Amino acid sequence: MNLDIYDRSQYADGAPHEVFAELRRTSPVHWQDIPGQAGYWALLSHADVTWASKQPEMLSSAEGGITVEDMDAEGLKGMRQMLLGMDPPQHRAMRKPLVPEFSAKVIAGLEPMIGDLTRSVLGEVDETSVVDVVEVAAQLPTRIVGGMLGLPPADWDHLHHLAAAAARSVNGDAEDANNNAIAELAVYAMGHAGARRGLEGEPPPDLTSLMLHGNFGGKQLDDIEFALLFVQLFIAANDTTVGMLAGGVSELLNHPNQLADLRADRGLIPSAVEEILRYANPLHYFRRTAMADLEIGGQQIRAGQKVALYYTSANRDESVFVDPQRFDIRRSPNPQISFGMGEHYCLGVHLARLEGRIFFAELLNAFSSIERDGAPRRTASNFNNGLDSLPVRVRR
Ligand code: HEM
Repeated sequence: MNLDIYDRSQYADGAPHEVFAELRRTSPVHWQDIPGQAGYWALLSHADVTWASKQPEMLSSAEGGITVEDMDAEGLKGMRQMLLGMDPPQHRAMRKPLVPEFSAKVIAGLEPMIGDLTRSVLGEVDETSVVDVVEVAAQLPTRIVGGMLGLPPADWDHLHHLAAAAARSVNGDAEDANNNAIAELAVYAMGHAGARRGLEGEPPPDLTSLMLHGNFGGKQLDDIEFALLFVQLFIAANDTTVGMLAGGVSELLNHPNQLADLRADRGLIPSAVEEILRYANPLHYFRRTAMADLEIGGQQIRAGQKVALYYTSANRDESVFVDPQRFDIRRSPNPQISFGMGEHYCLGVHLARLEGRIFFAELLNAFSSIERDGAPRRTASNFNNGLDSLPVRVRR
């Protein structure tokens, strides 16, 4: 068995789950080489990933970035301006003011907006030709974040293309070409901030106002800081959500009896979304850097070494999940860890869950049948667990 979990070719047909299972048994804190640069420690058990997520001082996100490849100085500088690439106390100061706007209660209030957007996107699907679920799903995250920020609907399509390209460049799946997308998105954001600052009267009650007027560590954001936050919200919300939605449709098509069960009982949707998140988790890992010598699972990790937290493996840990390789929309309990944990726990967790619940409900309402029409194409990545294309035929 090829035990290399960095090798991209291992992910060509999906994550190498049998390799992760073997390593959880034989080497749960596993040293992995990277050709031409320093390798990394891979944490593969649910307990170790959970523990490591809660040690931001010892396991830094800022020191070396959040993917396992070395970054150049400029790349690191950019990464450290994102929430994901910050350490406490700066991280807490930047994250705290955003938390109320992403709370379960506030996000629940977005249900009508998300429902309308989802119905309108599904309503535009042309059932007379092959439909790419990835393209359909990709319409949603940008529009929804755009709605939260109060951006004009006329700009959403343009922003959607920029956000998709920007996300690919940050994930290391495509290089230079997409840096322009990040810059364009940032320029758009600065224009939006400028327009908002120029408005007379009470600021509208939306995420833009909160970002412009909130107290971030004792000060307000300037236009550049606003733009950086704006860009990272678009990037963080994009491929991850599309991965959950398209990955979910794919797994339901792989398990037609469970798709039929979901159709018959919509009460199963919340647990189906959790199982989709566990089984088709959109991100394989995030990385930290050890700030001191430490021991994890009997392995000595030296200061400066890279440590990767493998959600893909933790989600199938047989000491936590019964029959972990089985997709089961009724699974309970389901302590999946696809949103991370601790210091950097996904800010958009409630939004992502709500988008998932609404999408699968509206998908079943919109189409009486969904069938594959050709092979799906996976994203060539050892970081993003996604699909580039999922062709289907639908009937209303
Ligand atoms: C299914 C969809 C999603 C998945 C699987 C996901 C997953 C994650 C993970 C694993 C982390 C990092 C945890 C860590 O480093 O410990 C994270 C952080 C983050 N996510 Fe999500 N995410 C999703 C959707 C979203 C959405 C819709 C947004 C909304 C804008 C969002 C915004 C963020 C932000 C801002 C962070 C950084 C938080 C911080 O560093 O404090 N995510 N997400």
